Amino acid sequence: MERVETGIGGLDEMLNGGIPKGHIVSVLGAFGTGKTCLATQFINHGLKRGEKALFITLEEEEESIIENALSFGFELRAYTENGSLAIYKLQPSDARNSIEKIKNELPKAIENSGVQRLVIDSISLLTMMFDNEGEKRETLFSLCQKIKNAGATAIFTAEAKPDNPNVSRDGIVEYVSDGVIVLYYLEDPQQGGEIKTFLKVLKMRRTAHSRKIKPYELGKNGITVLSKAEVI
Ligand SMILES: Nc1ncnc2c1ncn2[C@@H]1O[C@H](COP(=O)(O)OP(=O)(O)O)[C@@H](O)[C@H]1O
Ligand SMILES: [Mg+2]
Repeated sequence: MERVETGIGGLDEMLNGGIPKGHIVSVLGAFGTGKTCLATQFINHGLKRGEKALFITLEEEEESIIENALSFGFELRAYTENGSLAIYKLQPSDARNSIEKIKNELPKAIENSGVQRLVIDSISLLTMMFDNEGEKRETLFSLCQKIKNAGATAIFTAEAKPDNPNVSRDGIVEYVSDGVIVLYYLEDPQQGGEIKTFLKVLKMRRTAHSRKIKPYELGKNGITVLSKAEVI
């Protein structure tokens, strides 16, 4: 089976080499857990290997994505300039217009892009724009189909439910995902409430993977999963 390396130290080991090619993987977490960072790192890794990528964002402007990536040491600008990276902005505040784009423009952009890697950051904001539950599901399923047809491997970031980090806020994204990675944090009362971050691979179709909880660091080089560390 072909695998797509995420480029995230430790995570590829947990996945026995990477995400199976063509998978849609959702990354669940509260804000600040590093979902955007993880997605950017995944995109950057592909670009460095000469792949093409599409970053669909509902949270930040193109310039802000490039600047944030740079703060983690990922230099995306050259790739947007040479056309191997496209950043596609959707405006959550303009739901009518955005829904129109999600149903019409976006599928075409995905089909014609020839990208190997695709990110939607975040799928929570995307699904939040729909009032109608049926329309929401239908659009999401059809978008996923387009991504599969395009042969891309995708990461969807999603807000976790406040009371359960293993479940997304919208409760839908898990059903369209081949894999689910959960990021969460705990406060350590013994160290002045210091925040400790953990990652687990909850689901990954068609591959064996680590089922252990592993700590990760979110630092100036992005995310590193301490896959050798044992958490009791
Ligand atoms: N240059 C940096 N060096 C170290 N940590 C950083 C840097 N930039 C951001 N961070 C950390 O990353 C967090 C934001 O990560 P982000 O991927 O935006 O989270 P999310 O998308 O889950 O909300 C910040 O709260 C901060 O802790
Ligand atoms: Mg984010």
